[in-house]
Amino acid sequence: MIDRTARLTRATPRLAELSLIARSEDSRRFRWPSAIATDRLAMSEALLPVAGLPVWESLDDERRREIALLEATHFFSLNIAGERELMAGIAQRLYQGHSVHVSRYLQHFLHEENEHTAVFARFCLDYGGRIFRDRQVSFPRQFTKGEEEFLFFARVLVFEEIAFHYNRKIADDPDVWSLARDINRYHADDESRHIAFGRLLLEDMWERFIPIWDAGHKARIVSYLERYIASVLNSYVNPDVHRAAGLPAGTRDQILESAHWKALREESTARTRRWLRKIGASHDV
Ligand SMILES: [Fe+2]
Ligand SMILES: [Fe+2]
Repeated sequence: MIDRTARLTRATPRLAELSLIARSEDSRRFRWPSAIATDRLAMSEALLPVAGLPVWESLDDERRREIALLEATHFFSLNIAGERELMAGIAQRLYQGHSVHVSRYLQHFLHEENEHTAVFARFCLDYGGRIFRDRQVSFPRQFTKGEEEFLFFARVLVFEEIAFHYNRKIADDPDVWSLARDINRYHADDESRHIAFGRLLLEDMWERFIPIWDAGHKARIVSYLERYIASVLNSYVNPDVHRAAGLPAGTRDQILESAHWKALREESTARTRRWLRKIGASHDV
């Protein structure tokens, strides 16, 4: 049987070391041009929710670039909102409630999320001219201490995995503006460590809690995670973006019904769902 706690203890100092290496590369990270590119989209066409609708076909290149910039600004705004919740939660947990090696790594985690927010905000404000407001609804519930701890890190993991899918796709897309690709690559690199840590921590917690949780506890957690995944996905299709882009009312409903969006939804959550099934935190085990 795998000793999950020992794995977490071994992995965290190595992740911290990798954070220090990444930090030493900070100063030469990005070149911020004075204006946006006029020959490239700021986000991959395949990831734009509206790209699955007939209206997309009728738009000229300039309109497409405009919409892609709004969607890139929105994607980064979503990350700013997610990181806000994450940083608040991590700050509360620093040096209490977890082992020292986990706390030491959380310090790196917090530092990196703060840096991400600064990078995303600069992109949004300098090129997109705004940060979209956070529309995601939270659904507070009464949980036991163990459940709450597990669900905090599980929410972080779900959020990061979905964003990571987008980050990697955009970073690898030669049709995307180089600054947007670079930011997405930088974020994916840091997030790959956060995701590795989140999985190890959650697997360790799951194994420790599952013998003391009854079937009702477990079912509650699984349902909560299902709803959380759905709510993160929903937040990716934002009517504020459509309004800013001058798209007709009803665009959001059309997107949610489109085969393009349904496929995007599946592919961006496939890894998370596989992992939830693997640890047994899924209805379809
Ligand atoms: Fe981040
Ligand atoms: Fe992260």
